[in-house]
Amino acid sequence: MRIDIITVLPELLKSPFEASILKRAIEADLVEVHFHNLRDYTTDNYKTIDDYQFGGGAGMVMLIEPIDKCITKLKSERQYDEVIYMTPDGETLKQGIANTLSLKENIIILCGHYKGVDQRVRDLFITKEISIGDYVLSGGELGAAVLCDAIIRLIPGVLGNETSALTDSFQDDLLAPPIYTRPREYKGLKVPEILFSGNFPKIEKWREDQAFERTKERRPDLLEE
Ligand code: ADE
Repeated sequence: MRIDIITVLPELLKSPFEASILKRAIEADLVEVHFHNLRDYTTDNYKTIDDYQFGGGAGMVMLIEPIDKCITKLKSERQYDEVIYMTPDGETLKQGIANTLSLKENIIILCGHYKGVDQRVRDLFITKEISIGDYVLSGGELGAAVLCDAIIRLIPGVLGNETSALTDSFQDDLLAPPIYTRPREYKGLKVPEILFSGNFPKIEKWREDQAFERTKERRPDLLEE
């Protein structure tokens, strides 16, 4: 898989890809992540990427021209499955979206800034708009990092234990059950006895019941879906 991220702040985006699972995925060639600085696609001396809104109003709007140049160049080099725009008015990111995107070959992610991009960018180039939640960030970069992490960890071979992504919270619309490791008892708090039984079907049943109870208590909306 290849991910191309278009941003005015590449330095804000790089560090999540330089540690832990994402770093290993890149080193193992399971994913390529490329950063494109929008200012490199400007033609004026000031490297202008935004301007005032037509019709008045607070906040700058990102210009279509540098974005067009960057996306058009990328598209001339390979086919893209999706051109995603990170924006608070996009579809809220859910596990299902990450699952679908993890199966794609090439995607572009455009990070918005200021008030956002000229509407014609969205009309012309964008195939999917994603929000990471109902709050406004200063730019799309942190959202893009969240989206990339959610996608990349699902690519086969990225997580050591293949089943571990499948048992995450949300994979079957349930939260994950409680988990334990050593010691068996800590300050009077004991690990549930069933986990030492060696009866794996029974343990699996216990985990399913716990996942259901936890979901019912914390996120009943997931059960309604
Ligand atoms: N840009 C600003 N706020 C955002 C959000 N909530 N999700 C994605 N991109 C954003």
